[in-house]
Amino acid sequence: MSAGSEITEDQLYRIMYGSIAFEMLHAASELGVFDCLARTPGAGTLDVGEAIGLDPYPCDILMTGLRGLGLVLGDESGMSNAPLVDQCFVKGEDGRHLPFIHDIVNPGMREFIAAARQSANLGLEHFPGNGDSLYDRLESDPDKLRSLHDHLRATSNAVLADLIRTDVLATSHHLLDIGGGTGTNAITLAKRYPDLRITVLDLEKVVTEAAGNIASHGLSDRIAVQACDVFDDALPTDADTALLAHMLPIWSPEQDRKLIRKVHDALPDEGRILLFDPLQNDERNGPDYAVLFPAYYLTIASGHGTFYSWSTYEDWMREAGFTRFQRFGDLAVAHGLHVGVKQS
Ligand SMILES: C[S@@+](CC[C@H](N)C(=O)[O-])C[C@H]1O[C@@H](n2cnc3c(N)ncnc32)[C@H](O)[C@@H]1O
Repeated sequence: MSAGSEITEDQLYRIMYGSIAFEMLHAASELGVFDCLARTPGAGTLDVGEAIGLDPYPCDILMTGLRGLGLVLGDESGMSNAPLVDQCFVKGEDGRHLPFIHDIVNPGMREFIAAARQSANLGLEHFPGNGDSLYDRLESDPDKLRSLHDHLRATSNAVLADLIRTDVLATSHHLLDIGGGTGTNAITLAKRYPDLRITVLDLEKVVTEAAGNIASHGLSDRIAVQACDVFDDALPTDADTALLAHMLPIWSPEQDRKLIRKVHDALPDEGRILLFDPLQNDERNGPDYAVLFPAYYLTIASGHGTFYSWSTYEDWMREAGFTRFQRFGDLAVAHGLHVGVKQS
């Protein structure tokens, strides 16, 4: 749906019956419809049914729905995948998001109203176990934990490839990866930029795991790790670039502004800050992913956190003393890269 435009009746029904639309997509991916049509473009409904083991009646229901949704093109005597479906679900990794949505997002989101009323992630009731976050609860459910990790990995792979395509790091020498997690981003970036040195900052338990991952890729000479509570501890001052990837959406605006000011103080003149997240447009009415997904944070994941807009990030960077902003938009999964330079 295009951001901010008035809804049509068809779009309204697509939302009302959105759970059926999702199940059509999920079934097509799981049953192998898209792979079948990629192998045999021009196949009819009966051919597809035979290939994937469905009777003509259910196969007709599925294929008619898929054509109505624009996922499959043609008519019942000859069909092909929509080009985007080929790109995302046959050649790409987007199929990895579907079990996460099916088994985690959709069951948990049934509690959205209660979560909104009580401002707490009450969707967790669908995931038995201990702890206040989805991560804690899934410790005791390896299948769902795998679905969550598959989703996170597919997202990271897609968005990091796009970050690299912007080539903003080509002129950096030492990168601070703030809240850099277990080192996945740092490892990919170090491989792409052989002259880049990286320091991953994260909590102690996390950097211990990061150090092991980095060593297993033979990159310990160029990627250092440092246990650091980025709100309470001093940041290193010898880097020329700071990356905050998927860090700001977790915190409140007050904490984010404090962190950006702290990064500003740690960088040299002409040092750059890179903010890399799903970003809402300045009107805060799109893109769809960036305005819808925060409801999952509230209802299921943690009970807090959201995505912010380009202009909010720019206001926070300006307030901290950054200038010469650059926006790199239209990246995978509604991501944007917002860059600011410390004024000399
Ligand atoms: C959503 S993850 C992002 C990881 C990575 N940057 C990425 O793009 O995948 C947020 C990271 O922030 C780290 N973190 C949370 N609180 C922190 C703190 N006070 N100091 C340092 N790191 C923290 C978490 O351990 C986690 O690795």
